Amino acid sequence: MAGQNIVVGLDVGTTKVVALVGEVDDRGGVSIIGVGEQATQGIKKGSIIDLEGVIKSITQAVEKAEHMSGCHLQTAFISMSGPHLSSVINKGVVAITNKEKEILPEDIHRVLQAAKVVALPQDKRIIHVHPRQYTVDGNEGIMDPIGMAGTRLEAEICIVTASATALQNLLRCLQRADIQEEEFIPASIASAEAVLLPAERDLGCLLVDIGGGTTEFAIFDQGRLWYTSVLPVGGNLITSDIAIGLRTPVEVAENIKVTHGCVIPDLMPDNEMVTVLDMLGKGSKQVSKKVVASIIQPRIQEILTLIRNELKTSGYRGMLPGGMIITGGSVLLDGLVELTSVEMKLPVRVGRPDRINGVSEATQGPGYATATGLVLYGAKQLSSLQAAPAGEKFLGSFLNRLKHLFQDFFD
Ligand SMILES: Nc1ncnc2c1ncn2[C@@H]1O[C@H](COP(=O)(O)OP(=O)(O)OP(=O)(O)O)[C@@H](O)[C@H]1O
Ligand SMILES: [Mg+2]
Repeated sequence: MAGQNIVVGLDVGTTKVVALVGEVDDRGGVSIIGVGEQATQGIKKGSIIDLEGVIKSITQAVEKAEHMSGCHLQTAFISMSGPHLSSVINKGVVAITNKEKEILPEDIHRVLQAAKVVALPQDKRIIHVHPRQYTVDGNEGIMDPIGMAGTRLEAEICIVTASATALQNLLRCLQRADIQEEEFIPASIASAEAVLLPAERDLGCLLVDIGGGTTEFAIFDQGRLWYTSVLPVGGNLITSDIAIGLRTPVEVAENIKVTHGCVIPDLMPDNEMVTVLDMLGKGSKQVSKKVVASIIQPRIQEILTLIRNELKTSGYRGMLPGGMIITGGSVLLDGLVELTSVEMKLPVRVGRPDRINGVSEATQGPGYATATGLVLYGAKQLSSLQAAPAGEKFLGSFLNRLKHLFQDFFD
C-alpha cells in the first residue's frame, strides 16, 4: 500500500468488482480517495466459474482505483460471499496465569484460538471469527475484558466458514491480480459495518444484502453477529424473469427493471407503458408497467420466503426490535420496503453507505454497502493497531504475520 493510513476494500461481487481506497485520519475518520468499478466476468451466484474473467475484472477495478487515488495498491480487505458460507457458535476457555491476574491482549488471542478449535468438514476453512461475548470468572456479557482481573477467561465466538476450494480459487485470482489479502470478510459483515446503526445492532436486527447473484443474510444481537449465511438468489433472477416473460434480450430486461422496476403491481397505473424490443432488436411492442411489476412481484416474494425460512433455520428466537435493514443493488426496486415490511412483519428501511466522506452520489447507493464496509472495517483495524501501546502493536503485527504464514494451522 502506498501510505500507512490507506485502507483498501475490494468487493468481488457477482455483477461488479469494486475497489475503494480510503484514507484514515488521526481520529479514525475515513475519506474515500479512489473508486474503481468493473463489471464482473466469471462469477455465478457468488461462486467463481471462470478464473481468467475474475482476474481481469479485479485487475481492471484495481487499476481504476489506483488511477483515481494515485496510490499503488498491494493489499486489501476482501469480501467473501457464496452459498458455501456458513456460521457456527463455539466457546473456548483459558486460565489467566500472570502474577497480577490481569487479562492481557495475548490472553484474548489464546482464548480466541481455543474457541476456534471446532470439528469442521474437510472442505471447510475458517475465514472470520467474530467474538460474541467474554465471560470472566463466571460474569457473562463482557465485551472487552482487556485490563480486567480474573483467573478464568471464556470466549463465545461466531465462526464463519467457507468452502476450501472457493477460498483457493479466490486466492488464486488475487495472486494473479497482484493483490494480497489483509483479511477476508464475509460480505454480510462488511455491509453491516457500512449501514447498521449501533442501536439496531444492540436491539437485535436482521441485515439482508440483495445483490445480483446472492442475498447475504445476517442477524445481529446485543451489538454482535449472531448468525450469517448466503442465499443463492438475487436481482439477476428478476432480470431473467422479465427477459423470459416479455421475450426480450437480457440487456433490455435489465434496463426495464432498473428504470421502471416496481414490486407492487397495484402501485402502477394501467396506462403507463414501456417499449420492449423483440429478441432480434428490430421490432418492439408496448407493455404496461403493471405487467412488468406483476412479473417482478412473485420473484421478490420467493426471495422473502427464503429469507423467512433462513430466519427459522438460524434458530434465532428474538423479536428483532431493531427491524430489518435491506441493502444491495436490488433494493432500489420501487415498493420493496413496503412489501418487505408486510411480508416479514417487521419495520424495514434501506441501508445506504452514506456516513463516509468523499463519496459521490453513485457510491452512496446500496450497491456500495459491502465495499464501503470493507474500508470502514479495515480503518477500525488500523486505528486499533495504531492506538495500541508499542508492545501490543508489535504483538499485533507479529500475530498477523504468523496468521498469514500458518493460516492453515490456525484454522
Ligand atoms: N435501480 C435499480 N433497480 C432495481 N435493481 C437494480 C437497480 N440498480 C441495480 N440493480 C440490481 O442490483 C443487482 C446488483 O446489486 P449489487 O451491486 O449489490 O450486486 P453484487 O454485489 O455485484 O452481487 P452479489 O452481492 O450478488 O455478489 C443487479 O441485479 C442489478 O440489476
Ligand atoms: Mg454484493
